[in-house]
Amino acid sequence: FSLRKLNTFGIEAKAKQFVAVHSVQDLETILIENKSQKKFILGGGSNMLLTQDIEALVIHIDLKGKKIIEENEDFVWVESQAGESWHEFVLWTIDQNFGGLENMSLIPGNVGTTPVQNIGAYGTEIKDTFISCEAMTIENQKMKTFTKDECHFGYRESVFKNEVKNQYIITSVVFKLTKTNHKINTSYGDITAELAKNNITNPTLKDISTAVIAIRQSKLPDPKELGNSGSFFKNPILLKSDFEKIHQQFPEMKYFDISETEVKVPAGWLIEQAGFKGKRFGDAGIHKNQALVLVNYGNATGQEILTVSKDIQQTVFNIFGIHIEAEVNVI
Ligand code: EPU
Repeated sequence: FSLRKLNTFGIEAKAKQFVAVHSVQDLETILIENKSQKKFILGGGSNMLLTQDIEALVIHIDLKGKKIIEENEDFVWVESQAGESWHEFVLWTIDQNFGGLENMSLIPGNVGTTPVQNIGAYGTEIKDTFISCEAMTIENQKMKTFTKDECHFGYRESVFKNEVKNQYIITSVVFKLTKTNHKINTSYGDITAELAKNNITNPTLKDISTAVIAIRQSKLPDPKELGNSGSFFKNPILLKSDFEKIHQQFPEMKYFDISETEVKVPAGWLIEQAGFKGKRFGDAGIHKNQALVLVNYGNATGQEILTVSKDIQQTVFNIFGIHIEAEVNVI
């Protein structure tokens, strides 16, 4: 079974065995029936790089459905099943004038994987509206509710990438969104500029979403046209004391204070300075508008993209002494 259409990088890799599940009951049955077998859980395939065929049983989580589960005058609690497309879910909330997810418009992937890496963009992260998620243990099919506290969210981090890695399958997620007094977030410079360009002074949720979509489309390649997994690397976080030494040497280096003691440096800037932006090596390349995004021009293998990524890491380290860590899961 070819996984090419199920990973946004568009990498040709095969699954020896593949099953798509459409209900929680199905999922339970499949897990019981294949107890002794290795399993590989596949959601939207938007944050992984396949470098080989998959020997394990691939279980594609295709649970659909979204609904309001509670509301009062000011807030609404919405639940989405894991297999819903994230962007379609975001648009559905905006159509009903529910606020909180608009800055995260057009992020590829499915709802069920959003908590795994606490997705975020343009000043918001899902942890800002996340209430809880339901998950099933792969080992004995018990359901567990993870509250926000239990998820240990951090920058592109959660308990699902760390303490309970590969132990749970997220089946649904609940968000608490605003019905009134929306907290419009225009803290990110790109959004302010995009709104100003369109003479919008008092933006609605829809305006923010439209602005984010326009910004993303101008910088980030559409996976349907050019295979990619969004940011390939995380933006490195450095201790201020370490950063200051590097900054003396590279005064033009961009950075953002994230706490009293830490700064975040845009990896896209480092990669661009290292000369990789827009470069192409066979069918593997670095996007021309956003150096943080690696792309597949057609028939790149996962290994080829991995090689380019290692070359970038090494070069950036040689120049700046900064290690940039992959954000995508390399399989
Ligand atoms: N920059 C460059 N050259 C580049 C790319 C960026 O110099 O080729 C500089 C920009 O000029 C800017 C800074 O780096 O000063 C930040 O760039 P940008 O606003 O494009 O955001 P980013 O830090 O590169 C992060 C997220 C994106 C998210 C945007 C907007 C990570 C790893 N990436 O990128 O998330 O959309 O901010 O919030 O944190 C993703 O995770 O897949 C993703 C696309």
